[in-house]
Amino acid sequence: MKNKRVLGMIGALLAIILVAVVYPMLNNKNDANKADGTKKVKVGVLQLVSHPSLDEIYKGIQDGLAEEGYDKDKIEIEFLNAEGDQNKVATMSKQLVQNNNDVLIGIATPSAQGLASATKDKPIVMGAITDPVGANLVKDLKKPGGNITGVSDHNPTEQQLKLIKELTPNVKTIGVLYSTSEDNSKSQVEEFTKLAEKAGYKVVPYSVPSTNEIASTVSVMTGKVDAIWVPIDNTIASAFSTVVEANKTAKKPIFPSATAMVEAGGLGSVVVDQHDLGVATGKMAAKILKGQKPADTPVEIFTDGKSVINKKVAEELGITIPESVLKEAGQVIE
Ligand code: TRP
Repeated sequence: MKNKRVLGMIGALLAIILVAVVYPMLNNKNDANKADGTKKVKVGVLQLVSHPSLDEIYKGIQDGLAEEGYDKDKIEIEFLNAEGDQNKVATMSKQLVQNNNDVLIGIATPSAQGLASATKDKPIVMGAITDPVGANLVKDLKKPGGNITGVSDHNPTEQQLKLIKELTPNVKTIGVLYSTSEDNSKSQVEEFTKLAEKAGYKVVPYSVPSTNEIASTVSVMTGKVDAIWVPIDNTIASAFSTVVEANKTAKKPIFPSATAMVEAGGLGSVVVDQHDLGVATGKMAAKILKGQKPADTPVEIFTDGKSVINKKVAEELGITIPESVLKEAGQVIE
């Protein structure tokens, strides 16, 4: 009699353990992939460095996830910022993989590359990666094949060259300022050089290994070129005030490739919207959380730009902006 009761109690206890501990463990993975509110999904985000454009992309990512049903109470975001340090990119990538995030997002090329070398099976979503193939992140934009897909910001180079001609018709030599450490800049500089030379410009490249060399490089180039063009480059974007400062006396027109850099002292550009890029990245991450495979999710490419003109800088440089350009502008900074 007594034995039976003990056995019954042990049985009940085992059942409780099974329901309370083992069952959730087995179902953990599925629960994590559901947006039903019962369990928070985990998303790991690695941002390369703080500069206004990347910050805006991260904001867009959160908005995009929320639009797809993953608002703050349904999601746990582990957000890490590598502060432009390659060593931190590597250790933080490993950390995000180890912490069992369901999806990883890399904002900017070096962080996506860091995540890619940290895992070959966890899904990775690229947040605004200019050249996913050139950066060795995917083999084919339409059919990525591996554990990586995402959103790409292809520079509207041709539209930018058209603007350079309209705003500064006398420019003959363009200096290109970029960083050697970023694969995203390499392909943009190649494309810009090809198209600018075709349009009759002389193009001179000036590369910097890090932000430390920006001031001295800009001082040298302002003596040799008529205008400065900057690609979508994180190193230059994160120290853009240094570029503007070093150009203060020479006053050459600067044509950078992001709104934030135009706002900070560039003359104008044709740019892809940073918040839109973020929203698209967030939405894609949501699809992956719901079970879609990166291998057969095509990379979404943003390439259409709107023009941004800094009227204040134009006045400082004594440049009159043609009415037609102002009328077509997506944004005019007064
Ligand atoms: N596309 C960049 C990369 O691949 C990241 C980036 C997005 C960026 N927006 C930017 C860099 C604006 C400079 C300015 O790394």
